[in-house]
Amino acid sequence: MLVIPERPRRNRRTEAIRRMVRETSLTPAHLVAPLFVVDGHNERQPIPSMPGYERLSVDLLVEECHQLAALGVGGVALFPALPEYKKDKTASEAVNPDGLFPRAVSAVKERVPALTIFTDVALDPYSCDGHDGLVSEAGEILNDETVEVLARMSVLHARAGADYVAPSDMMDGRVGAIREALDVEGFPNVGIMAYSAKYASAFYGPFRDALDSAPKFGDKQTYQMDPANIREALREVRLDLAEGADMVMVKPALAYLDVIRAIWEFSDVPIAAYQVSGEYAMVRAAAERGWIDGDRVMLEILLAIRRAGADVIFTYFAKAAASQLG
Ligand code: PBG
Repeated sequence: MLVIPERPRRNRRTEAIRRMVRETSLTPAHLVAPLFVVDGHNERQPIPSMPGYERLSVDLLVEECHQLAALGVGGVALFPALPEYKKDKTASEAVNPDGLFPRAVSAVKERVPALTIFTDVALDPYSCDGHDGLVSEAGEILNDETVEVLARMSVLHARAGADYVAPSDMMDGRVGAIREALDVEGFPNVGIMAYSAKYASAFYGPFRDALDSAPKFGDKQTYQMDPANIREALREVRLDLAEGADMVMVKPALAYLDVIRAIWEFSDVPIAAYQVSGEYAMVRAAAERGWIDGDRVMLEILLAIRRAGADVIFTYFAKAAASQLG
């Protein structure tokens, strides 16, 4: 008779056993839904490269947030989509206290307080250049000048009701400057979720369609990270933590699971991962063609991101996944 000393299959025999020994959990509380807000009323604008996803006016945004909260989704990451005429060289709309964005943040905070609000801090939605920082005459992305604007912008978001400001710009020194500005202005409890390891990625394509924010010249390689690097990610995390970050992010997610794990081993703060627009679009496109089971692939990827070490997942699947997870 065949003697097999270990039989791992015993622990997979029934659903009750499998549930009992499952190492990783995925719940709606782990998920953050990115949402795009536009001016207007009852306005719903489909985004062709992100099937099933829309830009929403503030009234519909609040409605969507109610639904997400009812499903137990942990939070929302808000992004403004501005018309071209509101964009300029200095990204002035980014610090307009009466602008669309602070209005949207206040509305969500007031009407759906159960949701944790993350606000995006970067200049690309507001800049006619489509870059995350201010651009010099010579076409250079200006670091320190940009950091000043980001700090003012963060205070504006905090005042409107942000729980975490989320700098996604990759300028050097921005976390420290933002922390100081928040503290000085009386917002010691508003957190910073730093996009620490944000890679110069081709997976952001559909998002740039959503905000019409593709760079007008060049690319983002002088500030976003080289996809080839992982030790540099640890350096960025070390600096952001020293400057006062409360959470750090890896972005994109699926192609960078090793980076998530390395940061998990290296640090002791919560880690967020951003499953970006291109990752969403690939799953949706293959599912539409009937080539994969979209719902199952969605949950499998989200679980894998959690298994790698992410506490929080920013995902366009937040609503769909939360509905499935029940
Ligand atoms: C820009 C920003 C980007 C995303 C979030 N914030 C795009 C970029 O860096 O060009 C991408 C998100 C996505 O692709 O889903 N500050």
